Amino acid sequence: MRELEVRLKNSSYRIIVENYLMDKLSFYINDVYKNKRVFILTDDVVAKYYLDKAIKSLSDKYVVDYVIIPHGENSKVLERYAYVCEELLKKDIRRNELLIALGGGVIGDLCGFVAATLYRGIPYVGIPTSLLSQMDSSIGGKTGIDFYNRKNILGAFKQPSMVLIDPNTLKTLDNREFNNGMGELIKHGAIGNKKLLDMLKDKPQIDEDIIVESLFVKKSVVEIDEFDLKERMLLNFGHTFGHAIELKYGYKHGEAVAIGMLMAIKMGEDLNVTPKECYDVIFNILKLYELPTDEYNYKDYLKDVFYDKKNIAGTINFIFLNKLGNAIIYKMTEEEVKRLEGKNNSN
Ligand SMILES: NC(=O)c1ccc[n+]([C@@H]2O[C@H](COP(=O)([O-])OP(=O)(O)OC[C@H]3O[C@@H](n4cnc5c(N)ncnc54)[C@H](O)[C@@H]3O)[C@@H](O)[C@H]2O)c1
Ligand SMILES: [Zn+2]
Repeated sequence: MRELEVRLKNSSYRIIVENYLMDKLSFYINDVYKNKRVFILTDDVVAKYYLDKAIKSLSDKYVVDYVIIPHGENSKVLERYAYVCEELLKKDIRRNELLIALGGGVIGDLCGFVAATLYRGIPYVGIPTSLLSQMDSSIGGKTGIDFYNRKNILGAFKQPSMVLIDPNTLKTLDNREFNNGMGELIKHGAIGNKKLLDMLKDKPQIDEDIIVESLFVKKSVVEIDEFDLKERMLLNFGHTFGHAIELKYGYKHGEAVAIGMLMAIKMGEDLNVTPKECYDVIFNILKLYELPTDEYNYKDYLKDVFYDKKNIAGTINFIFLNKLGNAIIYKMTEEEVKRLEGKNNSN
């Protein structure tokens, strides 16, 4: 069992990472919740594997009810949000009763948003089951849904009361979903944890220790930037170019981030910010975990990315590695972007 704590100004919560924790949910939840009823929100795929287990492991202390929604990003929409609220109200949920997010990042984001808004806020516990949600999205308190063709555009900051992670659930995750999480996990190593990168070189099983090392990175940026005003931006490493190719070529998000990281490393090299050794190390780890490493020249995307992502001040913040396991925010003006774009490729 491994444990860490996210410490914020007005709240703190524990994250427990433990194999087979799914069999002792009430034991942990009892620490943060003393009322009688709990309400699980999950999707149809996760329900098939883990709902009975979760109910059983909660029933010694709680009366358990649940709402199941279809799996997938399409469930992060207003209609589904309304449906979940309606079902919970039909079940007469009260404002001091507990919601439980059992599933991947989609369930986590939607459940967190319901918890942030129903009765202006009710408590919730996260039980993330996908790799992405276990090593990343379940902590940090960003919740929300997609709307008006924009991802996560309606949302709120709402921290969970506790996060319970059972790495054993990853065994039922299909390969591509697993790799999707691996892209972001390798990113955490690249931007904030050299030790994690070293551990990954031997292609270990993703276990409690690896998840904890990855969560350390997320936790440390969340603690200094709870409301996403500055340092959390470091988590966007690989995303600026990643977003540009994700939809265009149909990559999964984590796969696009993998390629985006390589593009950002090349750009950082050209700006003399990123040391040469970074590319090979990250490239080899991505390969090891069967993530795509297709080569795209960042210069072909620079202009679009700049106009797409520049801020009101007309500058863009890129994230570069300044060494393995450390990233920096690097502000660029339009002139600098143009100069770099025009530079000979061999530079
Ligand atoms: N809030 C944040 O800070 C944050 C950060 C990153 C991503 N996100 C969000 O997370 C979402 C993506 O999360 P995701 O990749 O977990 O997607 P997801 O929730 O859609 O899960 C992926 C698929 O795996 C299935 N699944 C989950 N756990 C399983 C298990 N143990 N065994 C078998 N199948 C399982 C799900 O049913 C789903 O079909 C996106 O909507 C993204 O915006 C949020
Ligand atoms: Zn991402």
